[in-house]
Amino acid sequence: MNDSTSLSLELSGYSAKRLVRENAAILQILYEQCKEFALLTDGEPPSPTAARDEFEAVPENKTTQDKYIFGLFDSRNVLLGMIESIRHYPDNKTWWLGLMMLAPEQRDKGLGSEFYKGFERWVLTHRVKQVSLSVVEANEQGLRFWKKMGFEVIRKTPPRQFGVQTHELYVMSRTIDGIG
Ligand SMILES: CC(C)(COP(=O)(O)OP(=O)(O)OC[C@H]1O[C@@H](n2cnc3c(N)ncnc32)[C@H](O)[C@@H]1OP(=O)(O)O)[C@@H](O)C(=O)NCCC(=O)NCCS
Repeated sequence: MNDSTSLSLELSGYSAKRLVRENAAILQILYEQCKEFALLTDGEPPSPTAARDEFEAVPENKTTQDKYIFGLFDSRNVLLGMIESIRHYPDNKTWWLGLMMLAPEQRDKGLGSEFYKGFERWVLTHRVKQVSLSVVEANEQGLRFWKKMGFEVIRKTPPRQFGVQTHELYVMSRTIDGIG
């Protein structure tokens, strides 16, 4: 298995690498920059331990070894974005993308598309053929982004609690064929 810790990006001046617990402080800054996303999802700002907690949070029957968090960096090594994922979840043929976010001032420049494509090329090297994720119904921009990346809505879930909010979710999937 290829366990390389960086993603190859078709973007000059940027890099993407796997984050580890020691990077929690820079990840926390990104969470705070993305406060509007926490308010949309959870109805409250990110907790002061949001980044640290992210490294520990895993679904049932998974361990922290199954968790892969990648950071997108600029040429000065400033963290601009992240993708959080779980390998072989919810089944062996699927890689679950739990969260992707870019700092607000970095959005709408095509960076998210290229970051995701780099992630997908990396997932392909793990012989996984499908990426799945969920988006809260209220996140219209997120839903549009994933459709643009080739994801299809598989189902809609009953309402679930997130922080002090309740949301229905779209579960989306994409069969990987090596885009871009
Ligand atoms: C969703 C998210 C990761 C997308 O990243 P992004 O960098 O903004 O994505 P892109 O720039 O590649 O594409 C977004 C828009 O920019 C446009 N765009 C793409 N390339 C562009 C370029 N070179 N110049 C200008 N605009 C461009 C796209 O057309 C797209 O527009 P539309 O989808 O509104 O029609 C980012 O918006 C984000 O962090 N949102 C908050 C968190 C979130 O909602 N995450 C998703 C749920 S997990």
